[in-house]
Amino acid sequence: MTRFQMENNGEQIKKFVFGKQNTTEPAEKLEIVIPELLLPGYSFYTWPSAPILAWFLWERRLSLINKRVLELGAGTALPGILAAKCGAHVTLSDCTTLPKTLQHIQRCCRLNGLAPGKDIEVIGLTWGLFLDQIFQLGPVDLILGSDIFYDPSVFEEILVTVSFLLEANPQAKFLFAYQERSADWCIETLLKKWNLSCNKPSQAMSSPGAATAFARGVQKLFIGNLPWTVSTKELQGYFSKFGHVQSSNVIYDKTTGLSRGYGFIVFSTRDGYANATNKPYHTLEGRLLDVQPAAS
Ligand SMILES: C[S@@+](CC[C@H](N)C(=O)[O-])C[C@H]1O[C@@H](n2cnc3c(N)ncnc32)[C@H](O)[C@@H]1O
Repeated sequence: MTRFQMENNGEQIKKFVFGKQNTTEPAEKLEIVIPELLLPGYSFYTWPSAPILAWFLWERRLSLINKRVLELGAGTALPGILAAKCGAHVTLSDCTTLPKTLQHIQRCCRLNGLAPGKDIEVIGLTWGLFLDQIFQLGPVDLILGSDIFYDPSVFEEILVTVSFLLEANPQAKFLFAYQERSADWCIETLLKKWNLSCNKPSQAMSSPGAATAFARGVQKLFIGNLPWTVSTKELQGYFSKFGHVQSSNVIYDKTTGLSRGYGFIVFSTRDGYANATNKPYHTLEGRLLDVQPAAS
């Protein structure tokens, strides 16, 4: 990725280039321009975490197609805009009480050819507050946060919001990048309090399906793309190879009685869970399974 800057009427425009520099193949290169304002406020500047998270997403861009993505504390929204340009259905959010920030996010979208309300949504969503906006959100597959852990006084509010969203969206992941500002800051106790777990970046980086930073109940897996012939017993039989399975559950349609093509596995031990998630791919009856951490 390269980047350069231009001056433009008091607004500074940064250009972020993802992919190969010299290619003419559009699928292999993406340019995103971000306007920054010289105003006091965290939200008008692209923080160093944002290109890191955006790059992580770019490397997994095929998995973003048609995913429903919510970015928290979006600011100039580089990761969310990249996800939208890669085919995800994106909602960008920032503090409800910062109308200038929300307007600026809309400007960032327009400069990248994304019409707010049509190609991308921009909403007010304040961490720790349960107002209409959070209840009106549709299903979410991926929650993003770039440099939102920047002030310890709001860590719990962020985690309350994330916990609520993961509870409502069992298949979802929360992926975040942060800047280490003090060695004293720690979210471990808060994670325990809100029944959340955090994967190390190395684990998240190791397989495209495991880009989870936070998930509830690390011993539970969501299993998608199941052949309709696979029953709860067969699902359990397959995953028992990795460790003792506490419960196995294929989800059936109440009306037709047919499998809905997904289910859940809960391992009794972390070892079983780790063995299963360390395997790069799983197949059952010739189908490639979609195996992801799930909420407990
Ligand atoms: C350090 S900036 C990061 C901005 C952007 N994500 C980036 O990485 O460039 C933190 C962002 O969190 C937003 N924010 C702060 N407090 C918030 C709250 N209580 N609820 C929602 N967003 C908040 C700010 O408006 C700002 O956009």
